This record gives sequence, C-alpha cells and structure tokens, in this order.
Amino acid sequence: MTQHICKLNQIQKSYPLQDDVQHIFSDLTHELPLDGITVLVGKSGCGKTTLLSNLKKELIPNGLRSGIARYNGIGISQLDDETSACDIGYLFQNPDSQIVTDTVIQEIAFPLENIGVSSEEIRNRISELAAFFGLNDILHKNVNELSGGQKQLVNLCSLLVLRPKVLLLDEPMSQLDPIASYDFLSILRRLNEEFSITILISEHKSDNIFSFVDKVVFMENGRIKYDKNPREVSKTAFEDDVFKHYLPQVAKIHNLLGARHSQLSKMEMPLSIREARRSLNTIHDDLIKISEDGEKNQNPDLAHVDSDNNSHKKSIFSRYKKKPSI
Ligand SMILES: Nc1ncnc2c1ncn2[C@@H]1O[C@H](COP(=O)(O)OP(=O)(O)O)[C@@H](O)[C@H]1O
Ligand SMILES: [Mg+2]
Repeated sequence: MTQHICKLNQIQKSYPLQDDVQHIFSDLTHELPLDGITVLVGKSGCGKTTLLSNLKKELIPNGLRSGIARYNGIGISQLDDETSACDIGYLFQNPDSQIVTDTVIQEIAFPLENIGVSSEEIRNRISELAAFFGLNDILHKNVNELSGGQKQLVNLCSLLVLRPKVLLLDEPMSQLDPIASYDFLSILRRLNEEFSITILISEHKSDNIFSFVDKVVFMENGRIKYDKNPREVSKTAFEDDVFKHYLPQVAKIHNLLGARHSQLSKMEMPLSIREARRSLNTIHDDLIKISEDGEKNQNPDLAHVDSDNNSHKKSIFSRYKKKPSI
C-alpha cells in the first residue's frame, strides 16, 4: 500500500479582494506519496504555488483558510521550526529570489549556520555535496557569475545541505533552457533514487517531464482534475480539450495512431522517443503501406508503379525500419 508523507485535507483557501473574496480552493484534498516524484501541472493562476506553499509552514499564504495540511501526521503549522526548516525544502520559481549571500560556498553554508550547526559539520556537509554535484570549480565563485542552471543548482544545494525529506519545487525550470532543464530533472531523479527524497514539482508546461516522474497531477481552477501515473494520465487526458496539450508529443502520436491500429492501443503508453520507436515497430508494415498510399494519392503518376520494384519505397519511413532485436 502506498504510504503518504504529506496530506492536504479539505483545504479551502480564499484571498480577500477589495469588495469581494477570491476562492482559490473550495475543497482540495491531495496526498503526496512517500519517496515519489510528483509533478503538479496547470496553467498560470490555477493555484499551484498556493498548493505548494500550504505545505511549508513559513510560507502558508495569508487570507481565509480552513482544512488541514499535515506532514508525517502533524499539522504543518504545528511543526517545530527546526523540523520545518530542515525536513521540508522549498525552491522558488526565480533563482535570484532565494540567493542571500555573495559566494556559492557562503550560500550553501548559510542555512546550516542559521540552525547552529558546528563549523566542522558544515565543512563535511559542503564537501559531500560538492563531491556529489561536482561543484568544486564554482564553490568560491560569486553567485552573480553563475548561469541560471548553476544558480538553481546552488539553491537546491542550500536545501539539500539540511538533508530534507521533502522538496517542494515551484516551477524550478521556468528560467532554464531545455538542456539545463534536462540536467536539473536528471539530478532530481538521482536525489530521489539515492536519498529517497519525496519531490513535488509544479510546472505550467510538462511535455518533457513525464518520463522523470511517478505521478502527474493536472490542476484546473483550484481543483485536481487528474491524478495518475504518467502513462495512465497520457491515455485518459488525451480526451480532455485542455490537458491533451500538456501531454508528451510521443504520447499524443501513440493515441492518434492507436485509434487506427488496435495492436498499438494494447501496448504500454510510450513516454520517450526510444519507447515510441519500439511500439511503432509493431505497426511497421502498416506504416509503410500508409506512406505508399499517401504518396500515390499525392502523385498519381506513381499509382501504376509496381511498389515491390520501386526503390523510393525503401527510403520512405526508413526510420521505422525494424531493427534486429539485440
Ligand atoms: N497573496 C495573494 N493575494 C491575492 N491573490 C493571490 C495571492 N497569491 C495568489 N493569488 C491569486 O490566487 C490564484 C492562484 O495563484 P497561484 O497559486 O500563484 O497560481 P499558479 O502558481 O498556478 O500560477 C491567482 O488567481 C492569483 O492571482
Ligand atoms: Mg506559481
């Protein structure tokens, strides 16, 4: 049975407006599986940051609120300061919002100094992290000299140095390029696998993230609309006018082709190009035929040509050619 580390139970949350009240959540219940990586996806303003900040005592938003958020069975607002600071790490969307000192080493040491850890222990923890992330070359650099990806990594390290059990990451890749985002996600997967850290990431676009996570939560207007593993959600949300746009391209292609090729719809939903190529191989002959028919329709001169002797056939869809099984 899945164990849960954080639970939000019937949260109602509103912000007062000048003459009115804006309801963000009317009855939000959600559980974060222990040791899992969950991505929370939805368009801007749907309530992602508000959900994340309800799980961090120091960031619980002002305004009207009812229901309860718990960490390990204890109300988040009842957690003692040290447990809250160390166990639950929160990364802000803008890498610059979190940085408070000048150099990388000071930045990573700062949270430990704040909770009164000895200098020797600070040195040990920083060298552990520097070795894990290969940070030695930038440890003494000024934070202003770092790229966006390096800044986000330093921010992550300043949370990891406290040995957190849960990481709440608010759109951490919104300012990173695709390569830096891929590296960042790979690091999160490694942290999850090697240190069993439970991770909740919010994102307003999600196409590249599915293969890194265990659970996808789609949110709309403060309500959770889908909450499933990435393969299941790629199947069910394909019928949804809003959320089908958030699915990985390979899953969209699989769903489209699955409507015409029943053997595809019985196969596992692909989340990466490698997986998609494997499932396309199963309908290799059909794809060759579709491509030939398409060619003939577009170019009637080809219609009379004996397809078996036609050299152009070999080049068409050559990328779908069956590879010898290894
Ligand atoms: N401090 C605040 N005061 C008033 N309204 C707020 C505040 N923070 C967020 N909101 C409103 O709450 C809604 C959800 O915001 P947010 O949780 O930041 O969404 P997201 O992170 O998905 O973009 C938005 O309509 C936003 O304008
Ligand atoms: Mg937000």
